[in-house]
Amino acid sequence: METRAGDPGAFAHFDLHRVPSPAFVVDEAALRRNLAILADIKNRSGAKILCAMKAFSMWKVAPVISEYLDGVCSSGLWESRLARDYYKGEIATYCAGYKETDMAEIVEISDHVIFNSPSQHSRFASFLNDSVDVGLRINPEHAEGEVAKYDPCSPGSRLGFPVSQLKVEHLEGVSGLHFHTLCEQDFEPLKRTWEMLKPHIAPFFGQLSWLNFGGGHHITRADYQRDELVNFIQEVRSETGLDVYLEPGEAIALDAGILIGELLDVFENDLQVGITDISATCHMPDVIEAPYRPAMLGERSEGSPVRLGGPSCLAGDIIGDYVLPVAAEPGARFAFLDQAHYSMVKTNTFNGVPLPSIWLWNSDTDALECVRSFDWTAFRDRLS
Ligand SMILES: Cc1ncc(COP(=O)(O)O)c(C=O)c1O
Repeated sequence: METRAGDPGAFAHFDLHRVPSPAFVVDEAALRRNLAILADIKNRSGAKILCAMKAFSMWKVAPVISEYLDGVCSSGLWESRLARDYYKGEIATYCAGYKETDMAEIVEISDHVIFNSPSQHSRFASFLNDSVDVGLRINPEHAEGEVAKYDPCSPGSRLGFPVSQLKVEHLEGVSGLHFHTLCEQDFEPLKRTWEMLKPHIAPFFGQLSWLNFGGGHHITRADYQRDELVNFIQEVRSETGLDVYLEPGEAIALDAGILIGELLDVFENDLQVGITDISATCHMPDVIEAPYRPAMLGERSEGSPVRLGGPSCLAGDIIGDYVLPVAAEPGARFAFLDQAHYSMVKTNTFNGVPLPSIWLWNSDTDALECVRSFDWTAFRDRLS
């Protein structure tokens, strides 16, 4: 997978030795720039925009997010609790499969509870009440994904109820339809999806209150077609009479954070190999899962590459081959770009690899604050 992010922004001037390694550093000014773009889309289009916590749930900046957006969308009980405790606005909870033990609390916390299938909806109908809006995630069965693993519309998908099976009885008690089909995509795939989907769901518009177009919209990327999105949402709202929600995650924190690491050792094995205190498998699992190659701050285009990989025992714990902007020797610092979303939320302590600390920087004021650091008890306490 090719990442289309990787603008260093103000990090180009950040001294990587200001924090211990490894560390995530998030730039509040960059975050606010993204949020201002999203707020502008919201204001011009009349859509409601929720922050997808699965991508970025650095709750230290929840008050900042709450200044700009309408609320958050969560992936289940634990994210919903974070939402309730730290964020303002609406809470939309969607989970591919709810557990009975979580249902009462999810209903109490959420404004929207979105089910993945009519069977989950009917199973938990007794938990629902008038204070919560029920949504159904549908699968438009129209694939736009560039990578099957990230395409909820690939054949046999477990995500969303196939729209071809949707019948009027499935919408009893349902006030909104949700679909999420995109990943780091432009406006056109959303439009094509809507055009495919509309004939299937148009008969139900009169009985619904809202539509949720999920996430995956790369709205804050410089070349995203924002005016087209605004016009499209206005049209959908006037044509259907329904509220429209978007729930981007990545777009909120796009290019707003880096992950700083340090070289621990360098040796030759056909090429130069560098062991670092950043691990792909522990700190940036998408590098292996997607897979993708994260952009490096100041990476040189010419010179001898060093194959960087983590300190874990996993042979495949490789980040990629990079020509470092500094001499490749132990102690050298480097940073991967665009790491605020989907990296911080996915870290783990496999092999007892320490977790990166989390820092908030403001590139406008240069204020720098350690939000959280982890000692070995974080590792111990996940085990028994
Ligand atoms: C249901 C749902 N909503 C929103 C999102 C956020 O997507 P993104 O971070 O790509 O904008 C996702 C991502 O997987 C999702 O599954």
